[in-house]
Amino acid sequence: MLLILLGPPGAGKGTQAEQISEKYNLLHVSTGEILRESIKKGMPLGIKAREYIDRGELVPDKVIVGIIEERLESDGGAGGFLLDGFPRTVAQARSLDVVLERKGKSIDSVILIDVDEEELVLRLSGRRVCRDCGDGYHIKFLPPQVRNVCDRCGGELYQRDDDSIEVVKQRMHVYREQTEPLVAYYKNNNLLAKVDGAQDVEGVFRQISRLLDNLA
Ligand code: AP5
Repeated sequence: MLLILLGPPGAGKGTQAEQISEKYNLLHVSTGEILRESIKKGMPLGIKAREYIDRGELVPDKVIVGIIEERLESDGGAGGFLLDGFPRTVAQARSLDVVLERKGKSIDSVILIDVDEEELVLRLSGRRVCRDCGDGYHIKFLPPQVRNVCDRCGGELYQRDDDSIEVVKQRMHVYREQTEPLVAYYKNNNLLAKVDGAQDVEGVFRQISRLLDNLA
């Protein structure tokens, strides 16, 4: 199975991806996570990517497509791949189609998590992430048991630099301009399934599970 999770910043792609990949045995590939890891390790990719991420801009397509090509070389999870945050431009989507065609693979479904902008700002401004294991929380919607401490590993929780209000506004703008055209792109290919992302985390997961159970 090859799935794509599409949606604006803060829609809950990462939150859902964690549960979906576990239930369906998929390799979760998050381009945002890969870039943040590279920044943390001071790798050349991270140094280059940081300039874009901190401004709320997209990292150039060529760099991102290279990362994805490399990941798709692996066997994936037993059930396949779950792409989270990729593709994000029509050019990336076209490159993915070419890479998959070369491998004799194709996309099974693109799940759009739909949430309105006011709610997205609330979600991003309250998001906290574990410095050590990367687990995600929300100060109101998904609080840790102890303030600023990760339930899973005890690590310190922090707020992402690109979750400041100015950068969030720019990320929303970039989504509307560069990523939203993918909705039409995948609709035209009969691959798009939309879920109501305004429900609680469990409600969204139930709706996605129903879609995926019907695909299997
Ligand atoms: P990336 O990390 O992919 O950021 P994003 O797409 O903006 O998405 P987010 O991680 O902000 O949100 P999410 O949808 O995963 O929401 P989450 O589950 O955390 O990318 C960061 C940057 O990297 C980009 O800006 C770009 O510069 C670069 N980049 C990455 N990929 C790229 C690409 N392909 N091309 C070019 N550049 C690229 O949830 C958010 C919060 O809400 C959390 O606190 C969570 O607990 C809470 N929450 C989740 N679901 C619910 C719910 N149902 N109800 C209530 N609260 C909820």
